[in-house]
Amino acid sequence: MAWIDAGALSDLAGGRAITITAGSRLIAVVRSADQVYAIEDICTHDGAELTGGQIEGSEIVCPRHGARFCLRTGAALTPPAYEPVRVFETKIEAGRIWIRCDA
Ligand code: FES
Repeated sequence: MAWIDAGALSDLAGGRAITITAGSRLIAVVRSADQVYAIEDICTHDGAELTGGQIEGSEIVCPRHGARFCLRTGAALTPPAYEPVRVFETKIEAGRIWIRCDA
């Protein structure tokens, strides 16, 4: 597992998400309130990117069919998704976002 630099915290506004690529993996980096989350950016229902979804507290809503995922645990909270998305550890150091990933 390595820490990947996902950019400056100041470039990611609250309530927004960006996608970064780590090897072949797409990761959604999400800022909500004072928290930064990182989850695999592929909905487990039908493969949509979650990045464009509505962010509501510690949840993100898939923009394609509306499944909700917990940003903290990756759990699928509502149908039509039933499988969790993977979550990655994050930290902020010197104003930059770091994500722990095996990609
Ligand atoms: S692709 Fe995400 S809910 Fe269907």
